[in-house]
Amino acid sequence: MAKLAINGGPKAAEGFGLPEWPLFDDEYREIVLDVLSSRHWGRLHPDSRVEEFERAYAEYHGARFGIGVSNGTTALELALLATGIKAGDEVLVPAVSFIASASAIVTGVGAVPIFVDIDPETACISPDAIEKAVTDRTRGVVAVHYGGYPADFDRILPIVHEHDLVLVEDCAHAQGSEWKGRKVGTFGDIGCFSFQESKALTAGEGGIVLTDDEELAESARLYHNIGRVVGRPGYQHHVLASNYRMTEFQGALLSTQLERYRQNQFDSKYENYQFLVKELQLLGGIEPQKHDERITGRGFYFIVLRYHSDQFDGVHRDRFMEALNAEGVPCAAGYAVPLYKQPAFKREGVERLLAESARPWPDYETMFLPASERFCAEEQITIRHQALLTGHQGMQQIIDAVAKIKENIAELAATE
Ligand SMILES: Cc1ncc(COP(=O)(O)O)c(C=O)c1O
Repeated sequence: MAKLAINGGPKAAEGFGLPEWPLFDDEYREIVLDVLSSRHWGRLHPDSRVEEFERAYAEYHGARFGIGVSNGTTALELALLATGIKAGDEVLVPAVSFIASASAIVTGVGAVPIFVDIDPETACISPDAIEKAVTDRTRGVVAVHYGGYPADFDRILPIVHEHDLVLVEDCAHAQGSEWKGRKVGTFGDIGCFSFQESKALTAGEGGIVLTDDEELAESARLYHNIGRVVGRPGYQHHVLASNYRMTEFQGALLSTQLERYRQNQFDSKYENYQFLVKELQLLGGIEPQKHDERITGRGFYFIVLRYHSDQFDGVHRDRFMEALNAEGVPCAAGYAVPLYKQPAFKREGVERLLAESARPWPDYETMFLPASERFCAEEQITIRHQALLTGHQGMQQIIDAVAKIKENIAELAATE
């Protein structure tokens, strides 16, 4: 008789449910209605709720300045504009991420994304690969804190300093993550966050850039507000720029979310994560991102796990995930392919957006970065961050489901 749920057996994680996302309650209703009745829906008023959120979020991360924006993609575009990266410059970016980490380099400033491999143990950009990829056209690095795991600043900062590169941190996954007691978004020149609906802090859409550099902050304010300078006449525009402003609805929702995140969610999610990965490691064959004492706090977008098929009788990761989903644990394969394989990076798409000065364009279509390829095709398993709100009981259900598949791997292998 079949034991595994995929073959008709009972589910190991019966009743395990991801909390519906985003969370909300009556306080959120009141906040939205307050903004509605204030008739100040945009931020261009005194006592703006966006301004209040900017201050609170910057303070939480230990940054001097925060500029709220419409989403995480525009946060990256704005960061690249403000730091002075120009058309034709090369910017290094990991091949495994959400497309905005790379596409913003093109859509924001007409610069050229140069994909570099990841470190498979962290899923973040590989410092060795950065070193190898730097040329005399390289002007910047976008480092993504993948799944909330901080990139290796001890290795990356000396490289960017040596080559005089701009470091943009993509912290879309990493609200509150810490490296040696200091929060991400404050190590590079500028940090970018997303508050899109699936993120741990959200207003449906939204983003922010953080920086300690006053000039950069001024530049970001200017570019995010269609070239206006605060305190000068509203119809005077000092640079050609777009409108990236955040709405008051977003600002108000995010301030409340930040309070709850700090007080009720941040530490407990990390604690649940640690319980989960310790037990999974005892089972063998499923590794979390590498343990690193220098990481002192973790935000999450998804839990990132690495599957080793040799410890599951050679069963492919995709088949294992089907079995895990059938046992009642929703999981997926992250972003599925390295970014250079996205249709958006085909030659005709690149030609449309990149200036002649950016030649020679990289041939993304023939690229092959081994760690990124293997990670996407065979190794990565992701579980959405809200699973970490289900406590040890929820974590135990995930562990039980993996253990059950491992015990019955011959049954799965036979039906592959
Ligand atoms: C790593 C990363 N960077 C940037 C973004 C872009 O953020 P948004 O969706 O808010 O534009 C995302 C969104 O998922 C992301 O995951």
